[in-house]
Amino acid sequence: MSKKSVLSANKADRHELYQRSVQAADVEVAFIDKAFKKYRKRKAYSMREDFCGTALLSCTWAASHKQRHATGVDIDPNVLAWGRQHNLVPLGSASERVTLLQQDVRLPPEQKFDLINAFNFSYWIFKDRVTLRDYFSSVRHSLVDDGVFMLDLYGGWEAHQAVRTKRAIGQGCKYVWDQGEVDPITHDVVNHIHFEFKDGSRLKKAFTYEWRFWTLTEVREVLLEAGFTDVIVYWQDEGDYVIRNTSENQPLWLVYLVALA
Ligand SMILES: C[S@@+](CC[C@H](N)C(=O)[O-])C[C@H]1O[C@@H](n2cnc3c(N)ncnc32)[C@H](O)[C@@H]1O
Repeated sequence: MSKKSVLSANKADRHELYQRSVQAADVEVAFIDKAFKKYRKRKAYSMREDFCGTALLSCTWAASHKQRHATGVDIDPNVLAWGRQHNLVPLGSASERVTLLQQDVRLPPEQKFDLINAFNFSYWIFKDRVTLRDYFSSVRHSLVDDGVFMLDLYGGWEAHQAVRTKRAIGQGCKYVWDQGEVDPITHDVVNHIHFEFKDGSRLKKAFTYEWRFWTLTEVREVLLEAGFTDVIVYWQDEGDYVIRNTSENQPLWLVYLVALA
């Protein structure tokens, strides 16, 4: 499909729109590479992408170096099938270095990895501390001795409020982040992604996330309880990510956490 053609809901592919709206896999690979090298003084080769969805990051990782391998893990066979067709097949011979597994991330493969990632807040589906700690602990056991686990998280006072933000993503399409209010007692939150098109058509609730809103302090503590030796905060600062130990609060902020085995 030509990049210039204007889309409408009945012609759109929600996975393609998702990748275009919220993923920048080459930027992410550059970040991962740099952060890993900083703490481990070597290059990372094997990566597991938990909650991989369409496995865009796994495919970008494998394509970034001929010795790099990726294993994508997702519970949903449909999203994996989409990823195989649209991301894996076009990779050509590099696709031989990508493995996709349909399973729960809490029942991981035996293999150990240099790097494991859980991006786009996917681990927020684990709603209690014991489940989150068990998952982090199993990640820790799937890492080599100098392995690294990377994840992301958002916060700030606007993160607790119901807000709708829209952004144009090309082809006459807008990405809509429909954020629910965080329940102050349970920290449950339900968020949706919708897409709106120039002709007035919509893909309502293209994706829905029923999450627990975890705070940075909680996640850091649980990672340490699960056996990680240190957790570094990379704070988003004008498009870049910088290491911070403390910070002023902001209406909405985003961080990467780099947890060292
Ligand atoms: C928010 S998407 C993340 C996609 C991609 N990783 C990204 O960064 O945009 C969450 C994915 O997690 C998967 N998922 C949910 N629970 C899971 C579980 N227990 N084990 C493995 N995958 C799971 C869903 O099928 C979905 O594809």
